[in-house]
Amino acid sequence: MPQHRRAGQLDPELAEKLNQHVSFEAQSALAYFAMASWAEVRGLSGFATWFRKEAAGEIVHMEQFVQHLNDRGFQATFGAQPEPRCSWDSIQAVFESVVELEHSLCEQIENLIEVSHDRSDHFAGSFLQGFVPQQIADTAEADEVLDRLRLVGEEGRGIILIDQEMRAKGGG
Ligand SMILES: [Fe+2]
Ligand SMILES: [Fe+2]
Repeated sequence: MPQHRRAGQLDPELAEKLNQHVSFEAQSALAYFAMASWAEVRGLSGFATWFRKEAAGEIVHMEQFVQHLNDRGFQATFGAQPEPRCSWDSIQAVFESVVELEHSLCEQIENLIEVSHDRSDHFAGSFLQGFVPQQIADTAEADEVLDRLRLVGEEGRGIILIDQEMRAKGGG
């Protein structure tokens, strides 16, 4: 079947990089689902609620990248995803993974914006800019929760208190 040429067709290399990002968002969603399960079986259902909300957010981001690619005539594809990490020693260690994940997503968006500028692709640039405020907020939120977990350390009551806050943040 012949494919229609869409307006503002993507540069192939940029398209490839945007398609790689589809996988990063999918991997992030799986990482959060794995964290939710870890938390759920340890009595931290507030954290589990928040992790699931983040997982759903990453799926939405993934869909947005897929849609941008398809709308511009590049068929988005999906690779096999590596198994997400599923064991940690403490909720603080889980959050160290969250911080690492959100910071790397931030860097990847920044790199994609740079490539879109190099290629003078203002459509992709504007699409990517739409992710910046939320990505910065997600990164700052992850940093803040890790700081609070470090403050309470292994103290059970402090962790329960943060778990309640996470339930509220997760909309549970
Ligand atoms: Fe994301
Ligand atoms: Fe995120």
